[in-house]
Amino acid sequence: SKPEDIKERPPVVTIMGHVDHGKTTLLDSIRNTKVTAGEAGGITQHIGAYQVVVNDKKITFLDTPGHAAFTTMRARGAKVTDLTILVVAADDGVMPQTVEAINHAKAAEVPIIVAVNKMDKLSANPDRVMQELTEHGLVPEAWGGETIFVPISALKGDGIDSLLEMVLLVSEVGELKADAKRKAIGTVIEAQLDKGRGSVATLLVQNGTLQIGDPIVVGHAFGRVRAMVNDIGRRVKSAGPSTPVEITGLSEVPQAGDRFVVFEDEKTARQVGEARAMTAIQAQRSEKQRVTLDNLFE
Ligand code: GTP
Ligand code: NA
Ligand code: MG
Repeated sequence: SKPEDIKERPPVVTIMGHVDHGKTTLLDSIRNTKVTAGEAGGITQHIGAYQVVVNDKKITFLDTPGHAAFTTMRARGAKVTDLTILVVAADDGVMPQTVEAINHAKAAEVPIIVAVNKMDKLSANPDRVMQELTEHGLVPEAWGGETIFVPISALKGDGIDSLLEMVLLVSEVGELKADAKRKAIGTVIEAQLDKGRGSVATLLVQNGTLQIGDPIVVGHAFGRVRAMVNDIGRRVKSAGPSTPVEITGLSEVPQAGDRFVVFEDEKTARQVGEARAMTAIQAQRSEKQRVTLDNLFE
């Protein structure tokens, strides 16, 4: 890449937290206040990720449950999240999965913003949340620490704008960069087999720009990008850094966390795809042999 081509890219954010603390409500609330506001008639989300625009800057949200995103993706060596929002219900406080989420984010070195949710409830106790999180190393700025806490009500939509502004603030510190001019690379967010369209994969472009017709290897699937659809179901011809997009045209269904790479020509893509498939089959075989041998010695 030429230095002048390396530019700021949108942050990719996941939402984590204990069961029922309001992750889905928050994702819906952000999407409804931000996406449908600018779109007459309202638009339903099409894929497991979406982008919103705040103060002329984009933010990408991954819809995969934060824990799954971290564990399956990290197990496959992929890092997709730039920042995580930790949702803690103010009437419930820190719970086991809250602590698990903190540990995941720390291990991945992903910054955390705390959203203290359900502030509309009479039983809300934000001081207790701050106290409990301090014990886990997340000390609020108000108490001399470095962690940003934002009180919100995902249900009522209160505090969402402040939360998004904080996401942008923290992202700026991270200096997230990409080169839109290079060939695309990125990660599979989800994929499935569709009766009519064949293999359908949601990809997160992490660097470069993905174009219709690009020869691509995804995990050990390969092909050409036949059609591309964005987060609100519109057909697009290209997708730049930090953009989630759904594609068709692959030989097989890849897995979440698989990496994708665009090649110069389809022949190379096919060769790389087949070589990767072969390696996977061999790995499976030797695993089977190992299991068989283990059985012999039992
Ligand atoms: P899981 O996906 O099951 O882990 O739950 P979740 O974290 O996605 O929580 P979800 O968004 O499903 O919310 C759980 C319950 O809390 C629902 O009944 C929501 O309506 C409610 N809830 C979420 N946010 C708020 C809030 O800000 N205030 C109030 N009063 N209720 C909320
Ligand atoms: Na729930
Ligand atoms: Mg949920």
